[in-house]
Amino acid sequence: MIKISPSILSSDYSILGAELKRMEDCGADMLHIDVMDGHFVPNITLGAPIVKCIRKSSSLPFDVHLMISDPYKYIPDFAKAGSDIITFHYEADSDIDETIDLIHSLGKKAGLSIKPKTPAEVVFPYLDKLEMVLVMTVEPGFGGQSFMADMMPKVSAVRAEAEKRGLDTDIQVDGGISGSTIGIAAKAGANVFVSGNAIFSSDDAAATISEFKAIAGE
Ligand code: DX5
Ligand code: ZN
Repeated sequence: MIKISPSILSSDYSILGAELKRMEDCGADMLHIDVMDGHFVPNITLGAPIVKCIRKSSSLPFDVHLMISDPYKYIPDFAKAGSDIITFHYEADSDIDETIDLIHSLGKKAGLSIKPKTPAEVVFPYLDKLEMVLVMTVEPGFGGQSFMADMMPKVSAVRAEAEKRGLDTDIQVDGGISGSTIGIAAKAGANVFVSGNAIFSSDDAAATISEFKAIAGE
């Protein structure tokens, strides 16, 4: 199932609640919240108290992308704040199995993300218990970067492995997704598409989201 997850990194933070509501009205399937700590990535965004505040602005699932070191320590706060899917990085310094188990024990869906230089195969040992795998299509840290088409073999490798095991794992791509790249990612096997700049810079976000769904669904 195709899902579009607008990244609020490109939104107007002074009216964050209204931006979430606008995305919901424009046909978004979930809302991608980028959490950066200035340590795991060279940028800082927001923490759990803000997630808690904006929770009341939308009933869409909150797709929280933790680009932070030691995610295990902070996951309970993000769960309590109203996250629905919590994705952490393979490269962050938490035990992967324990971190997935923690997310599940808090009643949330677990995602595992890999940076561009990390091979796809590292997620295979955890695939059976993950709801989502996020294959980064840019170096994490900033919006508005160019899509890395050379990540597509990784997307295909995860999709093939999931299918081999009879799993319908969500495979998410994040970074540089636009009308000209979403089709490439969909063809490779992705079904959840994060998009910040392309949606928020659009004059007609609803049209952009429905165009994305049409292209990805082909
Ligand atoms: C980058 C973030 C992305 C970012 C994507 O580290 O994880 O979610 O907002 O933005 P665009 O779609 O502009 O590349
Ligand atoms: Zn992200």
